Order: sequence, then C-alpha cells, then structure tokens
Amino acid sequence: MSVKIAPSILSADFAKLGAEIRAVETAGADWIHVDVMDGHFVPNLTIGPAVVGALRPHCQTVLDVHLMIDPVDPYLEAFAKAGADIITIHAEAGYHLDRSLQVIRALGKKAGISFNPATPEDALAYVLDKVDLVLVMSVNPGFGGQSFIASQLDKIARIKKMIGRRKIDLEVDGGVTPTNAGAIAKAGANVLVAGSAVFSRPSIAGRSSGEDHVVAAYAANIKALRAAAKTKK
Ligand code: DX5
Ligand code: ZN
Repeated sequence: MSVKIAPSILSADFAKLGAEIRAVETAGADWIHVDVMDGHFVPNLTIGPAVVGALRPHCQTVLDVHLMIDPVDPYLEAFAKAGADIITIHAEAGYHLDRSLQVIRALGKKAGISFNPATPEDALAYVLDKVDLVLVMSVNPGFGGQSFIASQLDKIARIKKMIGRRKIDLEVDGGVTPTNAGAIAKAGANVLVAGSAVFSRPSIAGRSSGEDHVVAAYAANIKALRAAAKTKK
C-alpha cells in the first residue's frame, strides 16, 4: 500500500485556508492535517473548533485533526461536531487516555494517539484495541519548519512491530522532507504529515504566484515526497 501524504495547514496561508485546502487537494493530498494548539500544552496558539467547522465544506478528503491541547476531554465533542474525521490526542495530555480514546470512538470518529519525541511509546500496548492511528511526533510540537529528530526512526519501527497486522495507521509529523521520507517509510510509517515541505510557493520574478502556479507547486512538492517515500531507504 502506498504512503499517504497529509499536508499540515499550519504552513498554509491563514488568510485563505479554504482555498489552500482546495488547492492542496487538487494537487494530490490524501488527507488534510489540522494542528490545534492551546498555548499551554505547546508554546503556540492556532485554531479551534469554529475554524475546523468552517473548513469542513472545503475538504473533500479526510480531516485529520491533531489536538495539542491540555485538558483535551472538554473539547472532544466540539471537534467531532465540527467535522473532524480523525481526532488525535497526546499521551502526555490528560490523565485518562483510555477513557478519552473511548470517547472519540463513541463520537463516531477515528481515534489517534500521539507521542512527543521524548515520550516512550509503552502506553500504546494498553490501548492497541482502542486506536485507529498512532502519530509519532518527530519534532517537539508547536511550530512548523523544525528539523526531524532522527531518534524517532527507531521508535517508528518499534511501534510498527507493536501494531503488527492490526488496521492502525502509523503517521509521522514534523520535519518530513523528501530527504528523510524514504527512511521514515522504511521504518514503517504509512502516513506522512508535511507542512513546510508541501506549502512552499516559489514566487515568480518577485511577484506572488497565481492559483494555477500554486497548485502546480504543491503537486510537485507532494510528488517529491511520495517518490522519496516509495524508495523506502
Ligand atoms: C508541529 C505540527 C506539525 C507541523 C509540521 O507541532 O504538529 O504538523 O505543522 O510542520 P513541518 O512539516 O514544517 O515540520
Ligand atoms: Zn501535527
């Protein structure tokens, strides 16, 4: 099965997020990754359920919502109602991971669990039957454009082993580029989140580029990631 590409709209133009989602889907994105940050669990603030709800009609694929918020439980229903398809929570946020994952599924959504770079993945063993996705953070969450932390490759491989033949997606987020996508896929990831590597827009002769050019640039960026992932090295 080929690797999925999930562009993170954190690196998109926030003044026109609907258009950016349409452009990146036309360019071949498999999922749309939405980074929700609270200024407490991570040192940055982004968007909430109202914006996710406003973006829903612009998204034809999968709305993959990554919650970097603590506490998370009071907001699960709001993100489900806003139209998230996948809701991922952090193992470090909240005390009752098992319960939170059950709540997400009870809301009719796919449940994801995420681990920061320095968090051991051991907790996954206890909730393998309650997750649809595992998200390995390969940077310290909070900002786009950071460098991939190489120690996460072994963690991805260990998690892949734990997952075995179960139908659980293994997603990697942070610093993903065509240079490391092959190694990440080789370690076992089947979904690559990429912000800056997808939403880079070359300007033509100093002017900002037109819509067609934007789609072409995103398509080339996605194609490069896909091709690199396919090499699995
Ligand atoms: C970081 C976010 C990522 C981020 C990835 O906290 O979870 O999704 O946007 O951006 P890049 O691909 O630029 O590292
Ligand atoms: Zn993310």
